[in-house]
Amino acid sequence: MCGIVGYIGDRSAISVLLDGLQHLEYRGYDSAGVAVIQDDQVITHRSVGKLANLIQKIDRRELHGTVGIGHTRWATHGRPTEVNAHPHQEGRVVLVHNGIIENYLDLRRKLEKLGHSFTSETDTEILCHLVAEQLKKTKQMQPAIQKALALVEGSYAIVVMDAEDPDRLYFARQGSPLVLGLGEKENILASDVPAILAYTRKMVFLEDGDRGVISAKKFEIFDAKGKPVKRKVAQIDWDPVMAEKGGYKHFMLKEIFEQPKVIGDTLAGRISAKHGVVLPELAELFGSKKFDVDHIQFVACGTSWHAAGVARYWIESLCGIPVSVDLASEFRYRNPVIGKKTLCVAISQSGETADTLAAAQLAKRRGAKLIAVCNVQGSSVTRLAHATLYTRAGPEIGVASTKAFTTQLTVLWLLTLWLSRKLKKIKTAALEQEVKALKRLPGLVQTSLESHNEVRALAKQFMNASPVLFIGRGTHYPVVLEGALKLKEIAYIHAEGFAAGELKHGPIALVDQDVPVIALLPQGDLLEKMISNIQEVAARGASVLMIGEKNCFPKGMGTAHIPMPKASSYLTPILYVVPLQLFAYDIADQMGTDIDQPRNLAKSVTVE
Ligand code: AGP
Repeated sequence: MCGIVGYIGDRSAISVLLDGLQHLEYRGYDSAGVAVIQDDQVITHRSVGKLANLIQKIDRRELHGTVGIGHTRWATHGRPTEVNAHPHQEGRVVLVHNGIIENYLDLRRKLEKLGHSFTSETDTEILCHLVAEQLKKTKQMQPAIQKALALVEGSYAIVVMDAEDPDRLYFARQGSPLVLGLGEKENILASDVPAILAYTRKMVFLEDGDRGVISAKKFEIFDAKGKPVKRKVAQIDWDPVMAEKGGYKHFMLKEIFEQPKVIGDTLAGRISAKHGVVLPELAELFGSKKFDVDHIQFVACGTSWHAAGVARYWIESLCGIPVSVDLASEFRYRNPVIGKKTLCVAISQSGETADTLAAAQLAKRRGAKLIAVCNVQGSSVTRLAHATLYTRAGPEIGVASTKAFTTQLTVLWLLTLWLSRKLKKIKTAALEQEVKALKRLPGLVQTSLESHNEVRALAKQFMNASPVLFIGRGTHYPVVLEGALKLKEIAYIHAEGFAAGELKHGPIALVDQDVPVIALLPQGDLLEKMISNIQEVAARGASVLMIGEKNCFPKGMGTAHIPMPKASSYLTPILYVVPLQLFAYDIADQMGTDIDQPRNLAKSVTVE
């Protein structure tokens, strides 16, 4: 949601801003804009729709200023129009903003009484006027921003340019992400790491309440009261090339095919024949202390919530601890029973999802130990948590999560094995067996990817279907929810995932010869049950696509089959989601939708 870039240094700012905004496109947006100071003038360009529209408007040769700010806007207050696009300006104050100012109507009324008038419908313009109003008294930008923000309720990351001072940029963050990249004779502010990677890997992840100022060579950070604070400088290990398409038609396809590699990375150093599962990240939290956990509470949204759904089956069956799985947006507004013996696990690819952060905060406030499962180093959830288990998926740019999901599952399976060992619920031989199986996992995912040709051919067949039903049982129930979510997100096809046993309690009424059903039937205790469920829908004329091991397909049933490799029954969710990802991708590709940035969606949902 909304992307911010601010640059000050010795390069042409416009190139850095547009390049940065391109790397933030995945966040979702519907208008964009930039402002650069050049020859004592602020030159602003704004445009509705894709960044390409903005780029077309700009003659880079004419713009040589070395300080500027840029923004991609995901409309909240006010429609996606040019007038509502950022940057906004009032007098000296030129500003971009990500977040929501909750008391903006109140502030607007007060400012109107003081003689201010507004051109846009946005809450952001209020911020500009608020700073400008404070400037009348303080004359200096930093204290004016500080005082203005003291009046604001809501979430924000802002970068402010002073039209009268091209040597500084100002920033503040509260509830929305902002990263500071420290270069040689240049500094960059951005909503996320990929916008900065090409210039430096030395970064400061700003914290809530941080405000500050950067010049080309210096940076200063203050807390909300204006007291100077020190922040750790992190060295980011992502490579800039990781955030490029690398010859694939879409980031999503690249990310699907990266799964064997990133699952391998996620496992690296965490499993060994001698020690089983090693998670040093948890040492401090549980090290010498008695393991005093009687309840595990997952909070997450979307795909991450599906990963939690799989983990529930794993942990309950192997560790014997009750597990609750909540949508973070629901959890935060109920009165959950959480105590000191609760271990809360917040799962978030981005680490910036507003609902997940609020839910994790609530659990922590009530005394829970908090673990984050996250892909982004230094992100908000990792700072909130007592310990973080990183997925090592690298930057995920496609809005539809793929490699984030399978690496989350990998980490959650490691956590399950670690817990079962800690609780002495698993025998050494069984653990060794699972560790052996895990070593084969990247190779098995590679084999699952080999289904691509068959999936692509089938996608043509299913392209005009709606709805599409997905059915599964046990750990594969959350996987079918994920398969249906993928199809909705990128192909805009109405798809639903069902626990197969629930069909006859209602959803089977949807089934006829025009409704395709995709069924996951892995080897195991529930195979016979799944076959009965497939019989139920086949008897009502549905064409059934079955995904499973060859010898599991019931004879004479199903319209199509996708064979999967043999694997330990715990690992099959990680394998079986792969053809579902490919299926959604191929249908969307044939339909020609905007796969990496589907309509109405944002990659990182930093507001409620
Ligand atoms: C999945 O394809 C979506 N992008 C979405 O459901 C996502 O998983 C959700 O918004 C949570 O994001 P997070 O993992 O970054 O917290």
